[in-house]
This record gives sequence, C-alpha cells and structure tokens, in this order.
Amino acid sequence: MATTPTSDIDLFADEVVLDPYPVYAELREQGPVVHLRMNDVHVLTRYDTIRGALADWESFSSTSIAFNPMANEALTGTSLASDPPEHTRLRAALTENLSPRALRGLKGRIEAKADALVAELVEKGSFEAIDALARAFPLEVVADLIGFTGHVRDNMLRWGQAAMQVLGPTNQRTAENFPVAGELYEWCSQVEATDLTEGSVGRGIFDAEARGAIPPGTAGHIIHQYLGAGVDTTIAAIGNIVALFARHPDQLALVRANPSLAPAAFNEVLRFWPPINAWGRRATRDVDIDGVVIPEGAQVAILLGAGNRDPRHYENPDAFLVERNPVDHLSFGYGPHGCAGQGLARLEAHAVIGALSRRVDHLVVGPEVRVPGNTTRSIEELPVLEVIPA
Ligand code: HEM
Repeated sequence: MATTPTSDIDLFADEVVLDPYPVYAELREQGPVVHLRMNDVHVLTRYDTIRGALADWESFSSTSIAFNPMANEALTGTSLASDPPEHTRLRAALTENLSPRALRGLKGRIEAKADALVAELVEKGSFEAIDALARAFPLEVVADLIGFTGHVRDNMLRWGQAAMQVLGPTNQRTAENFPVAGELYEWCSQVEATDLTEGSVGRGIFDAEARGAIPPGTAGHIIHQYLGAGVDTTIAAIGNIVALFARHPDQLALVRANPSLAPAAFNEVLRFWPPINAWGRRATRDVDIDGVVIPEGAQVAILLGAGNRDPRHYENPDAFLVERNPVDHLSFGYGPHGCAGQGLARLEAHAVIGALSRRVDHLVVGPEVRVPGNTTRSIEELPVLEVIPA
C-alpha cells in the first residue's frame, strides 16, 4: 500500500477558488488522490480517476455532495443527494420535463430571445455583460419555463446563488447564505400549482403529481432542484462564453465562419472554465486507487476542473480551442447523476453563441471582476466597453 500524498492547500481559500488551475496542476502531479489536511478531504485530481469515481456510486456515495453536514442533511431525499435505487426513481420524475423531447418545443423561442437580446446590446454599443446578458437571459428562460411570477422571479438570482454557496465547508460564505437558501427551501415547500403560470413546465410537474406519476409531495422538491442546480451554473457558463470570446476573438471568428461549431465551442467553454470545479462524495468503503487507499467514510472532493485540464487526457489542455470539441468533458458530471438539465443549458448556450457569432466581430472589454465563491466559479462583472459589430 502506498502512502497517501498530502497537501496544505485549502481548497476553499479565496485565492484558490478565484484561480484554481495552478493549484490543480500541482495536486495532479502529486497523484490521482491527495489528502488535503486543512479541509480533511481526499481530492481526486486526474481525468480517468474522476470519471471512474463518478460512475462508481457504490464506492462514492452522493449523500455528501456538500462539504458541511447541515447542507447534506437539508438535501436528504433529493435526487442530487441520493444513491440508487432511490435515486433512480427520484431522477425519473425530475428528468421527465427536461428530456430532449420535452425541450424540443422551446428551441425556437430560446433562440429568438437570445438573438433579440444580443441585437439590442450590440445596438447599445457598450453594456455590463453579466447583468445584461449572463444573468438576464437564463433568469428569463427558467422563470418562463417553470412559470414563476412576482416576487419569486425577483428572488431567483439570490436564491440560486445561495443554494450553491451553502454546499461549501463550514465557512463564512456558507453561514451567510444559509438564511437565503432557507427562503428558497421554504417557498418550495409550500408552492402550489396555482402559483405557477398555466401551461408552464412547473404546472406540468404538479399535474404529474396529481395523476400519481410522481410521489405525493415531490413537485416542490423538483422545482427546488431546477432552481438550485440550474440557475447559478447556467449564469456562470454564459458569462464565461462572453469573457472567453472577448479574450479570444480568433475563436469567435471560427464559429462565425462555421456556425455548426456552436456546440463544440460550448463544450470547450465548459471544459476550460467549468461552472463547478469541485463537488463532493463520501467513500462507502476503503477504496484503492493506484495503491492509495481512501478510507471508508472519508469526504471526497471530485475536482472536475482538474480532470478537464489533465494533460494525460487532453492535448495542450490550457489552450482554449473551439475546434477541439471535448464531448467527454467532466463539467456536467458523468454516470447516474450526470446533469439532468444539460439539454436546457445547451439550448441556452448554443443560442447565445449563435447570436454573438452572427452579430459581433469582437468585444473590447474592461477587467473581469470576480468574487470568491464556495461552489460556482463565475464572473461578477464584465464591462463591455465597445462592440465591433460583425
Ligand atoms: C452549464 C450549466 C450547468 C452545469 C455546469 C451543471 C452541472 C451539473 C453537475 C456537475 C451535476 C452532477 C452532480 C453530481 O454528480 O452529483 C449536475 C446535476 C444536476 N443538474 Fe446540472 N448543471 C447545469 C445546468 C443545469 C440546469 C439548467 C438544470 C435544470 C433546469 C440542472 C439540473 C440538474 C439536476 C436536477 C442535477 C441532479 C441530477 C441527479 O441527481 O441525477 N442543471 N449538474
């Protein structure tokens, strides 16, 4: 049995969450598994190990996706935090309204919305990309989809952000966000069909509950998960699209010349800057990885962002190349819990990439502002100073 490599890196320190990639490179070189003393967490650092662990739910349980016991406790009974066979049943109810078939009718509307919004911003000539695009667009899409009205629409951003922040370790960010995540939890536990717009997907979930297709009392949980898992992540991804294309106008030009590259470009954005870099699991037994044993009961952090930059798997991994098309990136997870909302996220992102590549030659941007976060790595502010139209 080999000795477990250890490190004094704090996975949740401000400077690490703001720019984790140099730290990931160091940890990856130490080994596929490293024990972080400060966090008492075993991190998985290499592509093959990560993918293997995501598939192996019997050894790596989802009952500890968060890094503090209160959040794990609060998530009990959700699809995200359960293991098969219970997970299989919960996930089926959750995915019914997010399948390619269910989303087919939305494509045209989402594309038209993205195009109109980007056209308006190009016309303005300068704008704040995070508020005006990265947040505005998915918030409107998700609100319309689920059928939110009134104060819920206004709270979606705060609630979505807080739901992700509270998955961190017991630190100040987690403590500050618990009350806000609690508001979301509270609202979802008492929401009724009539609170949601007629004909919306949210209403459809309540209809499914009424006809017994999903267990009684689960509609509110499902809506909670759509908001908790789907808002902050998609906002981060769209902000990253704008920032990466602003930094790499040559890559935007490639998509303009060949619009069918939009899906490949989104895969590369997700590989390069995953909205979620680290995600939890718990070892259910002693797990041997290349001779290093993760002890039963240990908290594990799956470093999706480290796997995505593993040179053992991707050539020249620190380069942003839209023609690479890394369909096997880890940013949506993999295996039984692989992102249930990726069809919707892709629809939104492809629509934004399409609109930007058609309408923008390049963007002159000011410095990105980032604020450290426990779970989602996203840009807080991105001033577009000038748009050079296509
Ligand atoms: C770019 C945007 C997104 C990213 C990067 C992302 C990322 C992820 C990841 C990494 C997982 C796997 C978690 C695990 O293995 O434990 C996941 C699961 C999930 N995602 Fe997403 N997600 C995105 C968008 C969305 C959207 C738009 C929705 C819903 C409307 C959504 C709903 C879910 C749900 C419900 C799960 C849990 C599935 C399960 O437990 O079986 N996600 N997502």
